[in-house]
Amino acid sequence: MEVGQIRGSAVYLHRGHHRRSLSVSLSIAPPKSEKRIFMLGMGFVGQTLARKLHNQGWVVSGTCTNHVKKKQLEDMGFHVHLFDANYPDLNVLQLLKNYTHFLVSVPPMLGIGDPMLQHEELIRSSLVNGDMQWLCYLSSTSVYGDCGGELVDEDYPTNPENELAKLRLASEEGWSNLAHCLGFSPLIFRLGGIYGPRRSAIDTLIKQKPLSEGQKRRTHRKYTSRVHVEDICQALMATIDKPPPREVYNIVDDDPAPREEVFENARKLVEKKWPGLNLQPLEQKDRSIVETRNLKGEKRVSNARMKNELGVQLLHPDYRSGLQSIIDQIESPF
Ligand SMILES: NC(=O)c1ccc[n+]([C@@H]2O[C@H](COP(=O)([O-])OP(=O)(O)OC[C@H]3O[C@@H](n4cnc5c(N)ncnc54)[C@H](OP(=O)(O)O)[C@@H]3O)[C@@H](O)[C@H]2O)c1
Repeated sequence: MEVGQIRGSAVYLHRGHHRRSLSVSLSIAPPKSEKRIFMLGMGFVGQTLARKLHNQGWVVSGTCTNHVKKKQLEDMGFHVHLFDANYPDLNVLQLLKNYTHFLVSVPPMLGIGDPMLQHEELIRSSLVNGDMQWLCYLSSTSVYGDCGGELVDEDYPTNPENELAKLRLASEEGWSNLAHCLGFSPLIFRLGGIYGPRRSAIDTLIKQKPLSEGQKRRTHRKYTSRVHVEDICQALMATIDKPPPREVYNIVDDDPAPREEVFENARKLVEKKWPGLNLQPLEQKDRSIVETRNLKGEKRVSNARMKNELGVQLLHPDYRSGLQSIIDQIESPF
């Protein structure tokens, strides 16, 4: 076990973190192993999955967009390519056909759409006749739009309300078409709000960060689907080992609780663990929102298909379990 300081905030305990360096370097094909994954975007989910697969002997490679992060990822033991999907580097694209698995984490951008799919022909020609047999696009439950509070499974009609959600749905279609053209079925994972170590209500409270725009929007909701990053990885790993029967899966926990309930629980956990820590009070507007809220635009997302077909048994069926495990891993809030 090793203890490390992360970005000047909470000190987390790291379990089983091996500093083996990866065996892929820029413009050099990976060694021929059965299991080779390329992660377009080594973000929060990508990094978590990368650590797990790397420890299981996979050849793992991925991308990020800036030198500082590349260095951080390299310090964690990964070999990473600098890559901007708007201006794809042909050297990196040429490597893709050597990988068996491909995880896409890059989100769509307003005014552009999916930055990578702008270059669809280029990707297709890079992948054709290659080793790729699994492609998973990480999407969002936002594609369902306004569901009047109903329980929404994967067959529920998509009806994205805002521009970003529309672009998200277009990205799903684009990546799906690409995989079909290459001769295999894609996976589309519609994720709820992602949280985990270093990205949770506990971290927001400790860092005293202002709410992001997405968090402010979610403040108005009665139901907010969320999922712990470890459970996303469980679901991904279930499909990697055994191709699933369908293409689209909702990946959410069992309890789409309102945001202020999650923050109240986080506050209690923090105050219990570090009595006397000076935390900002919950925003007063939360109270009036609770009173005036209606279910228009709301949805409860079903995870039955994920459980029944992927065999996922959630490590964190609700935010209480997830937050408890997160605070247990924080040694100091400073
Ligand atoms: N956050 C949520 O609650 C939530 C909920 C549902 C779905 N999602 C979606 O699920 C996916 C995975 O989530 P996550 O939390 O792991 O995402 P994340 O941490 O934001 O990672 C996104 C990755 O995409 C890369 N990227 C962004 N724009 C790019 C561009 N133009 N060219 C190349 N790379 C680019 C980022 O590069 P850098 O590493 O350099 O930043 C990063 O590696 C994302 O698409 C996210 O939008 C998120």
